[in-house]
Amino acid sequence: MPRVLSGIQPSGQLHLGNYAGAIRQFLDLQAAQHEMFVFVASYHALTTQRDPAALRAATRQIVVDYLAFGLDPAKTAIYVQHDVPEVTELAWLLSCVCPTSFMDKAVSYKDKLAKGFSANVGLYTYPILQAADILAPQADIVPVGKDQVQHIEITRDLALRFNHEFQTAVFTIPGHRLAPDAEVLPGIDGEKMSKSYGNTIDPFQEEKPLRKRLMSIKTDSKGVSDAKDPETCSIFRIFRGIAGKDDPRTRDLAAKYADPSRHSPEGFGYGHAKQALFELILDHFGPARSRRAALMADQGYIDQVLKAGAGKARAVAQITVQKARAAAGL
Ligand code: ADP
Ligand code: TRP
Repeated sequence: MPRVLSGIQPSGQLHLGNYAGAIRQFLDLQAAQHEMFVFVASYHALTTQRDPAALRAATRQIVVDYLAFGLDPAKTAIYVQHDVPEVTELAWLLSCVCPTSFMDKAVSYKDKLAKGFSANVGLYTYPILQAADILAPQADIVPVGKDQVQHIEITRDLALRFNHEFQTAVFTIPGHRLAPDAEVLPGIDGEKMSKSYGNTIDPFQEEKPLRKRLMSIKTDSKGVSDAKDPETCSIFRIFRGIAGKDDPRTRDLAAKYADPSRHSPEGFGYGHAKQALFELILDHFGPARSRRAALMADQGYIDQVLKAGAGKARAVAQITVQKARAAAGL
């Protein structure tokens, strides 16, 4: 069975973009009986986070949310990055074969600086740590959203380079996997939905504030009776990202955009579309929302899951690191 690995940074509450781009793939691959490793990238978050309490809380929350979405610890090793110290050891071994030019061309570093984060060496070498995450358990497949593809390419280059320079075959060469209808979901302002843009939609938010949040999605000024273009509308694109493009509800929504009189003689406005999105979210995430409430009340269980997950990840990572050290003459 192919091995799958992915992670998400605890830089804030998970949102619909993370679900559509990453988490839904984790669930699909878990259902396909792949050998799964899913972790919380705490060391990566430390490249920008300076509030220890917020980092601790977000790390815990992502684990709870993974479980609420349906990751099953019996099938998936769920762990926190800093509980697997072999990863940082491997990052050093990889950094010694990494040309600085690899980091210079990484777009995520430039993006972070452009967002106003201060330049630090951890941020600069972020892709090397990500490569170590992936190579430590010898992952074959890395499910991610489009913005992460360059990091997986760097991982592949580093693995090939290490294998070549030390005349070894220690590292499996991984590939990325995009969600089948890979689309970058827009946030409420129409830009890419991202924790760092403050434009996210949280599938676990209480109904009232959730509804209010959805009502604030930016649209053009077309009226209820005007035909609308679904492709340029954030409400429609988010709806399709969650329901799927072939879902009858998505087709129905597209039909109402094209011909608002299909809905009622008065027409179909953006307010109606927002209401449809609200109902979709409650329906689609209903089971996850109730599981989450129960999980939050059982912190002992979360500890147990993380301990078992880190145990599984360390067992495979130790073998890899041992081989890599030996290959390098250590
Ligand atoms: P954020 O931009 O909110 O900080 P992350 O960088 O932590 O998100 O991304 C975690 C995972 O979710 C990655 O695989 C990323 O590609 C995916 N992802 C993030 N935002 C979106 C989005 N708007 N649409 C689709 N996938 C996304
Ligand atoms: N850089 C990824 C993100 O921002 C998180 C991440 C860290 C990751 N290590 C990884 C994703 C390994 C996949 C595999 O989303």
